[in-house]
Amino acid sequence: MKIFIDTANLDMIREINSWGILDGVTTNPSLIAKEGVDVRTRVKEIAEIVDGPVSAEIMSVTAPEMIAEAREVAAIHPNINIKLPMCVETLKAVKVLSAEGIKVNVTLIFSAHQALLAAKAGAAYVSPFVGRLDDIGTYGIDLVAQIMQVFQNYGFATEVIAASIRSPAHVLDAALAGCDIATIPYDILKKMVQHPKTDEGIAKFKADYEKSVKN
Ligand code: E4P
Repeated sequence: MKIFIDTANLDMIREINSWGILDGVTTNPSLIAKEGVDVRTRVKEIAEIVDGPVSAEIMSVTAPEMIAEAREVAAIHPNINIKLPMCVETLKAVKVLSAEGIKVNVTLIFSAHQALLAAKAGAAYVSPFVGRLDDIGTYGIDLVAQIMQVFQNYGFATEVIAASIRSPAHVLDAALAGCDIATIPYDILKKMVQHPKTDEGIAKFKADYEKSVKN
C-alpha cells in the first residue's frame, strides 16, 4: 500500500519523507488555511520535496472554470495532481482533464456510486473519507472495501485513497481491504511506529548491554 501524508506543513512532510516511506502528499483548503499560506506557492514547495503525487485542491465551481484552473495549477510542477470535490461539474471536468493527461483526485467520496462515476469519467484517484463516515455512525472502512471490489470487478485503473484517517487501526483496515493508498496525518504516522513492548524491549537490551560491557 502506498503511503501519503495528509498535511500542508513542510516540516512534517520533510520529516516523514526522511523516513523513506513517503509516496505522496494530499492537501485540502482546510490544511492550507491552517498554515496561512498561498495554495499555489505551498504545493510547489511540497512538490519540490516529495518525489510523488501532490494533490492540490482547486475551488472553481463550473466545469470550464475547473478545467482552466486545473491546467494552470498542474503546470506549476510535474508532481502536482488536481483535487476536485465529487459533483456533476467535476465529472465533466475530469473527462476533459484526464484526456489531456492531467491526473485528478476526486475527493469527498461518501458512496461507491460516486466512486464508480468518478472512475468512469477518468479519475486517477478517488478519496473515500473513512473517519467522517465513522463520525456519523457508519463503518467508513466498508466503503473502501466496496469501492475496491467494484473497481476490481471492472478493471478500473483508478486508485483508491483511504482518506480522513483518524487512527493506526484505520490504516490497518485500509491495508486489509487491499486499498491502493492511505493518506495519513502526521500524528497517526508517528503512532504507527510506536509499540510499548518495543520500547520495553529496547530499554531491556540497552540495560543488559551496559551490564555486559561493565563485566
Ligand atoms: C483527504 O485528502 C483529505 O485531505 C482528508 O483526509 C480529510 O480528513 P479529515 O476528515 O480529517 O478532515
